[in-house]
Amino acid sequence: MSHPVNPPARLLMGPGPIDADPRVLRALSTPLVGQYDPWMTGTMTATQALYRDVFGTRNDATVLVDGTSRAGIEAVLVSLLAPGDRVLVPVFGRFGHLLVEIATRAGAEVHTIETDWGQVFTPTAIEAAIVATKPKVLAIVQGDTSTTMNQPLDELGAICERHGVLLYTDATATVGGNPLEVDAWGIDAVSAGLQKCLGGPSGSAPVTLSPRAVAVLDGRRSVEAGIREPGDDVSDDPIRSNYLDLAMILDYWGPRRLNHHTEAASMLYAANECARILLDEGRDQVVARHELAGRAMLTGVQALGLGTFGDLAHRMHNVVAVEIPADVEGDAVRGAMLTDHGIEIGTSFGPLHGRVWRIGTMGYNARKDAVVTTLAALENALRRAGHAVPQGGGVDAALDVYAGAAGAGAADATNAGVAGASR
Ligand SMILES: Cc1ncc(COP(=O)(O)O)c(C=O)c1O
Repeated sequence: MSHPVNPPARLLMGPGPIDADPRVLRALSTPLVGQYDPWMTGTMTATQALYRDVFGTRNDATVLVDGTSRAGIEAVLVSLLAPGDRVLVPVFGRFGHLLVEIATRAGAEVHTIETDWGQVFTPTAIEAAIVATKPKVLAIVQGDTSTTMNQPLDELGAICERHGVLLYTDATATVGGNPLEVDAWGIDAVSAGLQKCLGGPSGSAPVTLSPRAVAVLDGRRSVEAGIREPGDDVSDDPIRSNYLDLAMILDYWGPRRLNHHTEAASMLYAANECARILLDEGRDQVVARHELAGRAMLTGVQALGLGTFGDLAHRMHNVVAVEIPADVEGDAVRGAMLTDHGIEIGTSFGPLHGRVWRIGTMGYNARKDAVVTTLAALENALRRAGHAVPQGGGVDAALDVYAGAAGAGAADATNAGVAGASR
């Protein structure tokens, strides 16, 4: 016998996904409308405008790719890189390796530089690699959730411009929770996702492209047989994916509304609502809320006597890697968090597997109550696993961070920021 879908109550405090904002869940359950209905095309256009503001860009070419963040990454790389094109990928974690994997499959000539997990690159090191490899595209992750590091991007646009290189970044895990200024930093292509600091489900990948990036696509544009009209482009070097062909996706979102895929209407509604929530609160305020929640969580785990991984000066606001004490079994404690407290925290990949838990404070869950509930549960799970922890220490330390921020006038220090706003 089948059963209705009835998920358990969970507080998702891993590296993403997080609990979707209730406003987004409501948007997801609204009626479907056909993709050429004027209401729908109007909503698509409105969503483009919202994401320009989310990204800090005037790029006309700002759209949603229907698919998870990985689809956004693949759309950008397969569309900008023709087989044989050179790309430089500085790798500082698992998602840098993903860019390498995707660019390699696109047939690009891929060059990498690597740094230890837990570190980021200096602009000088990246510029030296650009000089050595002369790539068409520099592809770099902004925040790599596998290591929790946030790669500074603000100087890379000028470097790329100097060397005639296009700059692409995967901002899936950072957009909304950490500063990202697409135009001011001179970034040519950005892809993202909803399921982290934007407070939505995975399944839609906002993408923005500068005019320079669009010019590259223009050279590879093709209109499919069956909808092609006299004078339309037929490239002899077409983009090597049909579904993820950003030139076709731009034609679909653009004034001609050229048929491509059937718009994932529910995800469009979700993406629209995610952006509206962020912009209603204010871009800077949302970043500040993530900074505060992340700092409270970091201070709380440190007050429990736990170590953290990586260069804290370059950590993402929204996820912290917590060293698993030697006297406990990491998966058992994580399991107790889930079964006894209903709280999910993250495991980790590759060299960090079994060494750290990753605890996120992002999107709808970048909230004081979520931070202290998680710290209280972690303290309990550790104690029951036999690890000595100072009683109440994590919660008190986090509350002190919030109290200090309230003293300093932070907007959401009383938790009003996210949970109190018009829901
Ligand atoms: C930095 C980064 N890039 C890409 C992805 C892949 O996203 P998705 O699973 O939505 O395809 C993730 C997911 O955790 C991520 O953190």
